[in-house]
Amino acid sequence: MQDKTHLVDEITGHRRMRRNRKADWTRRLVQENRLTVDDLIWPIFVIPGQNIVDPIAAMPGVNRMTVDRAVEAAREAADLGIPAIATFPNIEMHLRDETGSNALEANNLINQVTEAIKKAVPNIGIITDVALDPFTSHGHDGILRGNEIVNDETVEQICRAAVLQADAGSDIIAPSEMMDGRIGAIRRALDAAGHQSVGIMSYATKFASGFYGPYREAISTGGLLKGDKKSYYIDPANGTEAIRDAALDVEEGADMLMVKPGLPYLDICWRIKEAFGIPTFAYQVSGEYTQVKAAAMNGWIDGERVMMETLLCFKRAGCDGILTYFAPEVARILARA
Ligand code: PBG
Repeated sequence: MQDKTHLVDEITGHRRMRRNRKADWTRRLVQENRLTVDDLIWPIFVIPGQNIVDPIAAMPGVNRMTVDRAVEAAREAADLGIPAIATFPNIEMHLRDETGSNALEANNLINQVTEAIKKAVPNIGIITDVALDPFTSHGHDGILRGNEIVNDETVEQICRAAVLQADAGSDIIAPSEMMDGRIGAIRRALDAAGHQSVGIMSYATKFASGFYGPYREAISTGGLLKGDKKSYYIDPANGTEAIRDAALDVEEGADMLMVKPGLPYLDICWRIKEAFGIPTFAYQVSGEYTQVKAAAMNGWIDGERVMMETLLCFKRAGCDGILTYFAPEVARILARA
């Protein structure tokens, strides 16, 4: 009688991968990556008014909140151990114009919420985006002149907006508009205003993606957008170009880099981390969130399991943290475990 083990050749017999997978304890011993609450950044949407929590239809479970309610949310996040939040304002339509001038109001909605959260919840980090899209009547991230998003004029304006955000208490400025030269310019502007300790998290590789759809509903820019953002965001086909763009941001003084969207771009996360060894983040954007939620609501996937798996995969791809709308839900699950 032939011994059954001989059906597998000798080499394979010496290298059985399953030996380390055989029990829960072996699996825990060899686990390479772990997700913790320290990996989470929670993006929140802010609206004007008082005591309103307004659900976003395309993002089940995500709300727009007035400043007072955003402060409560920030407190809850801090209590859960979430290190930082990222704020996105839904600016009233009558305040939006061609150049996004409301971004230059010291007391605009984004600065109001920063000030309020800083005061009430001083131990949570606040990350603010300086792109102009919440403020423009055309939904573009920069100033539109004719058919062109003008680079240098936009950079000048976001530098001023960045200083105001830092004045209001923002800890990290996160420019998402992909204009050339912005990181160096923001660094100089912050330093000149005495904000040496305010950091810059560059949306270094932001792709022209369809995954931003629900976000545009959240801040009401969807119907406004004329054309698309392909003249400033990166083509999803291009990996090497993204690394080159990230290299410029590192040179210009970015403290952290971000990849956006997240899951479809894990190769970019990995390449950035390998190339620069700089703190690297991914933004699991609105459309990624919605995909998981929608499938889970239909009973087609196990939503909680898929949520946790996606976030762990960012860690495996070299990310130091993830901006995710799942943050409070995940933090609660991690606290339970
Ligand atoms: C634009 C901006 C976008 C997101 C955040 N800031 C993309 C866009 O509107 O083109 C997307 C975030 C998300 O989809 O979750 N500055």
